[in-house]
Amino acid sequence: MTRRFTASLVLVLALAGCGGDTADVSAPDRGLVGLAMPTQKSERWIGDGENMQSQFSLLGYKTSLQYADDDTGVQVSQIQQMIDDGAKALVVGAIDGTKLKDVLGRAAAAKIPVISYDRLIRDTNDISYYATFDNFKVGVMQATYIVETLGRGGGARSLELFAGSADDNNATFFFNGAMSVLQPYINSGSLVVRSGETSFAAVATQRWDGKVAKERMARLLSSTYANRRVDAILSPYDGITRGIIEALTEGGYAPTALPVLTGQDAEIDSVKLIAKGEQGQTVYKDTRELAKVAVQMVNSLVTGVGEPIVNDTKQYNNGVKDVATFLLQPVTVTKANYQRVLVDGGYYTAAQISG
Ligand code: GAL
Repeated sequence: MTRRFTASLVLVLALAGCGGDTADVSAPDRGLVGLAMPTQKSERWIGDGENMQSQFSLLGYKTSLQYADDDTGVQVSQIQQMIDDGAKALVVGAIDGTKLKDVLGRAAAAKIPVISYDRLIRDTNDISYYATFDNFKVGVMQATYIVETLGRGGGARSLELFAGSADDNNATFFFNGAMSVLQPYINSGSLVVRSGETSFAAVATQRWDGKVAKERMARLLSSTYANRRVDAILSPYDGITRGIIEALTEGGYAPTALPVLTGQDAEIDSVKLIAKGEQGQTVYKDTRELAKVAVQMVNSLVTGVGEPIVNDTKQYNNGVKDVATFLLQPVTVTKANYQRVLVDGGYYTAAQISG
């Protein structure tokens, strides 16, 4: 699938270069693309922004890359500015997927196509396409790691659950994917959530903030685990996992004897913890590939050459319509394969991980 996509990107690149700009085919001026990203607190979004910037520039686009510091009001003004600056298209990684309806209405009035990037923008007709990873599968991978690592025998094991930010549509997909694997074990009693906190609302972590997760984990340790061990923790994202690890080590767990812990994004600080055997798993999502998908979508829409490639038209309803989506495949990463996937795959150097 990725190979097919790459081939088509090459084709689009070639066609775009021949599209009427005969004066200077090497540097066509295709106008401005607005890249509205949510935050620089999480390393992945920095990579997303930089990858798109360089790929757009190769195709002759200027970009305005803006980060909104997890503040929805700031993101709305940044998008408005991009519209006022005459952007030809917008790529938006939303902070709160429900709060962009009005500003995107103004983008639609100016005939500016919008790509919903990684996170689905909800409650509006004014998005053209969605580019993301298979979010349900991310949760399935995290939960599968937990059940496989705990093993099937050995009596009831204790598990606690964490989810992402409730205003991010992805968070529900990750959680539902994970629960599709975990629920039968919880029902049979082989996994026990001793805190009793099992609903998405009870376990969500506002703004994916590691500090918020750390506080909740510390509370669970004193309320529920004063005299017993927690065996596994479902965490949806590496930054949350690091917060949980801080609470656990401050609560007396040795770094080498932590519960089974999951994550997402293969952030460098977490890959180091995986190499040391502290965090068990993460889910790697190659943001270079996601950038390619979004860039290809924008380029097709702006030049009219080819059509954006999609591979899912049913899974992502944003409350108004089923949004045509391209889903990339996530990869589960553990101590056993991080070298092959992340280092041999060119995402990190060995020195970055050991440094
Ligand atoms: C999600 C995204 C994850 C992770 C998280 C926190 O929307 O899909 O990969 O980055 O946000 O930033």
